[in-house]
Amino acid sequence: MTARRPPASLSPTDARAEHARLVLKISAHDIAYHQRDAPEISDGDYDALRRRAGALEAEFPALAGSAFSKNVGAAPSEKFAKVRHAVPMLSLGNVFDDAEAGEFTARVRRFLGLGEDAPLDFTAEPKIDGLSCNLRYIDGALVQAATRGDGFEGEDVTANVSTIDEIPRRLAGRGWPAVCEARGEIYMGHADFAALNARQLEEGGKTFANPRNAAAGSLRQLDAAVTRRRPLRFFAYAWGGMSAIPARTQHGMVEAFKSWGLPVNPLMRVCADAPGLLACFREIEARRASLGYDIDGVVYKVDDLALQERLGFVSRSPRWAVAHKFPAERAATVLRGIEIQVGRTGALTPVARLEPVTVGGVVVTNATLHNEDEIARKDIRAGDTVVVQRAGDVIPQVVEVMLEKRPADSRPYVFPNVCPACGSAALRGADEKGETDAVRRCTGGLICPAQAVERLKHFCSRNAMDIEGLGDKQIEFFFERGLIKTPADIFTLETRDADPSSLTKIRNFDGYGETSVRNLFASIEARRGVPLNRFIFALGIRRIGETNARRLARHFGAMEPLRETARAAKEADSEARADLVAISGVGGVVAEALAEFFAEAHNETALDALLGQVTPEPMEAVKADSPVAGKTVVFTGALERFSREEAKARAERLGAKVAGSVSKKTDILVAGPGAGSKLEKARELGIETLTEDEWLARIAEGPGG
Ligand code: IVH
Repeated sequence: MTARRPPASLSPTDARAEHARLVLKISAHDIAYHQRDAPEISDGDYDALRRRAGALEAEFPALAGSAFSKNVGAAPSEKFAKVRHAVPMLSLGNVFDDAEAGEFTARVRRFLGLGEDAPLDFTAEPKIDGLSCNLRYIDGALVQAATRGDGFEGEDVTANVSTIDEIPRRLAGRGWPAVCEARGEIYMGHADFAALNARQLEEGGKTFANPRNAAAGSLRQLDAAVTRRRPLRFFAYAWGGMSAIPARTQHGMVEAFKSWGLPVNPLMRVCADAPGLLACFREIEARRASLGYDIDGVVYKVDDLALQERLGFVSRSPRWAVAHKFPAERAATVLRGIEIQVGRTGALTPVARLEPVTVGGVVVTNATLHNEDEIARKDIRAGDTVVVQRAGDVIPQVVEVMLEKRPADSRPYVFPNVCPACGSAALRGADEKGETDAVRRCTGGLICPAQAVERLKHFCSRNAMDIEGLGDKQIEFFFERGLIKTPADIFTLETRDADPSSLTKIRNFDGYGETSVRNLFASIEARRGVPLNRFIFALGIRRIGETNARRLARHFGAMEPLRETARAAKEADSEARADLVAISGVGGVVAEALAEFFAEAHNETALDALLGQVTPEPMEAVKADSPVAGKTVVFTGALERFSREEAKARAERLGAKVAGSVSKKTDILVAGPGAGSKLEKARELGIETLTEDEWLARIAEGPGG
């Protein structure tokens, strides 16, 4: 490292330049260390960089905004580091009607001493219902992202924000100042919100009440990999610390952001007076329902930045801006009844059936009640008059019960403990943390019509029974025609089809000829014997993925002992439950799910029928003596010799562990054409790199290849 000049001898400009370089370096090393598990410099050298940045900040306090020096050791797995904002992040005052909006413009004129005719422009733009975030760019590179927090100090969410596609890692275009803090709103769109909740429900995770909560929850994930799977978006509308201001107006600033590649809201307008602002308000309000994201009002800002400066702030809001909020979209109506819907993974979701009512211009007849606890907490009953709200234009919600209108004979709602679709027990298990799940689920996985199609698809899928010719489309096709309702039906299809009295011959269906029917039957026939681990996985028992299925198959060796133990494990304090928990890697939550599955008589019946058709064979062997046993392998690039899935399965069969990213723990990288950063990194770390052919040769060397 070159000798450093004492900070006190540096000019502010030199100090800032050096500080910016240090910040960039530190953030790159932070990412290498915390996110990629692959430090590129020694701890000592890293500490020296931080000490130098700290020394510069001590001498030039204006540099301290990046808060890197307070960030020491802040592994994302701990909790978020605090970030002191270079410029506080303030909030907005609210107005609720046209008259109050007019008072705002009049107040501004008065403050500035402008006559009625003096020109005074304002901007109007949607108020995005998300959470605000400060993006700090140094020399065009995103070095830090922070939440608003209390306005003075927020949380460092750089790793998570780096996963948001819409937020540029480097500013585009020209003219951005060396230090550039763009501020704006992180939010989630309606469609993405609905999809996320559906997925959460499916995976047994928690669902979110509205897109704002979903965005906040996603941004504040300790694991950035989780944030990456959540489609967050961003609009820039303000700024914090800037080493230079590139425009003279609010709209000019936003245009500059846009030219640097930051997303800005297309509905922003410049208006000359209060009537203009109100017209804009109406326009945005009219488009609210079709925007695809939540907004809760329109923000008016004085356009001229010099005037903004003169206007300044009162307490914690600017005098030059105000939020004109939309009236709450609520209405009262009668709740006719509570209906339980069963999702395709067995989740029981309560839905309020309502007397139709118009809420914010939309007729509402159903509202979500979220879950059992929510109904109990609000004591919602059939016959109640309830206040319904269109929360963020998504699914209407029941906000509260108007108790004064409750009929005298009303009874508390009792949530069913059997599935309305199939009559199987519906239970609330424990979530990953061992807490009672908010969602009650049907345990009749194998027979429940609400779940049937998805279960069948899973049953036939590649990694389960792997029945060729029975893909998702074909299963839907046979299910709709009543030919396959349960897994066992698959294996009786041929006999039923051959029955002379059968009215529906598959070969007469569109898309099926003699040959394809013969092939289908042959591929079904071929799967009458499958490895036990596949069979267990195919049953689609909650929490039994491929790995757990292997563990169970290895432990029990056959279906019958597994079944007996799981049956005997019904009581949480039983010996059998303890036995299940004791299986390496299984644990309490999985044991409970197994016990639940086998406690449901419907499943037992379906399983018996299936075992009458299929005979599970010993588990697929994992070759401990293979040349790659115990090795960690990463596949990258466009693989041409095998699919990624196949590569993974085969490697695992040979006892290797397949990882998604390269770290110092990686033993082998298999790189197909077009391999990029992973290959580079593997080379840097000196990891053995193989082509696909070399990999195939390697695994062919030993037994089991
Ligand atoms: S301007 C100094 N513009 O509303 C004020 N804020 O209630 C800077 N918000 O914390 C904020 N959309 O999270 C501004 N177009 C917009 C906005 C907006 C949403 C949020 C922001 C702020 C809150 C204030």
